[in-house]
Amino acid sequence: MSEPLVMGIETSCDETGVGIVRGTELLADAIASSVEEQARFGGIVPEVASRAHLEAMVPTVQRALDDAGVRLADLDGIAVTAGPGLAGALMVGVGAAKAYSIATGIPLYGVNHLSAHIAVDTLENGPIPQPAIGLLVSGGHSTIMMVEDLAGKVSQLGASIDDAAGEAFDKVARLLGLPFPGGPYIDKAAQEGDRTYVDFPRGLSNAKDQEKHRYDFSFSGLKTAVARWIENQQAEGNNIPVNDVAAAFQEAVCDVLTKKALLAAKEHGVETLLLGGGVAANSRLRAMATERAAQAGINLRYPRPKLCTDNGAMVAALGSHLVAAGASPSELHFPANSSMD
Ligand code: KG4
Ligand code: ZN
Repeated sequence: MSEPLVMGIETSCDETGVGIVRGTELLADAIASSVEEQARFGGIVPEVASRAHLEAMVPTVQRALDDAGVRLADLDGIAVTAGPGLAGALMVGVGAAKAYSIATGIPLYGVNHLSAHIAVDTLENGPIPQPAIGLLVSGGHSTIMMVEDLAGKVSQLGASIDDAAGEAFDKVARLLGLPFPGGPYIDKAAQEGDRTYVDFPRGLSNAKDQEKHRYDFSFSGLKTAVARWIENQQAEGNNIPVNDVAAAFQEAVCDVLTKKALLAAKEHGVETLLLGGGVAANSRLRAMATERAAQAGINLRYPRPKLCTDNGAMVAALGSHLVAAGASPSELHFPANSSMD
């Protein structure tokens, strides 16, 4: 077969994403998001997300096919996020993908959302050297992954024991009066701020925690520390220096993320570190990781910001990799699995 033509469907959270790739070439990346509707509630409401996916699914598939200039019947595979994610939201994508597959006979691949966040890098930077360490940081996950084989052997070395990194960004943004989702607003505010303004805590970083939680993260203590700091300032009648608090908070998050990811690479003798997930769009994380990876002699890769946040192209990229690797398609009865790891 020439380079496989694959469509990917992503509905694990609030983005209805449909991407189409040929091999590692991106042909279409159509996205409909319910984020504006969600912003009214200050967070993701699962029911709102599921309903929005239902409404957006078919038009977004059509738009992706039009953008790519291909027909459904031309596809060699359909990939869909089977988990992890919001159960009701996943079911919409999985149900739609099954329907397209049954109607056309095109092989179907149920894939892992986290592996898809890693696979998207192939669209920009080509095949991923394996093994690689993946630092996957989003609104739902903060994990350090060992990618031995993207088509099969991907395991977690560590994860957040409480809030995900993106969740911490969103919660701190809320404390600072910034809109939802807060990550991009903190990133922007921090560019005008002083990173050393407050020395916020680095979770699970002292020697004792490092023993038990070597590659794990914790961000709830950091969020609480920011909340207490703001309360104390307000109690004293001081204005909150939003840019400085954003910069100092962001520094604390990026510091632990990059340190632990590079430690994992070093201790596993792995030469490549990949960043993925919505928080990997963060400009400070990219800059700090670039600097520290260079110092450690590690090869760092990350895709452009638009491909870091949830999209269908990442699912198509993983699907294309699976087709090329000769992986077996999924059985039609596979479930949406909200807690898949
Ligand atoms: O990967 P993603 O789109 O969805 C999930 O799977 O969760 O990630 C969304 C998360 C949100 O928490 C958002 O605030 C965060 O990624 N995010 C950022 C930035 N852009 C998005 N966090 C920090 N800096 C950014 N530039
Ligand atoms: Zn994601």
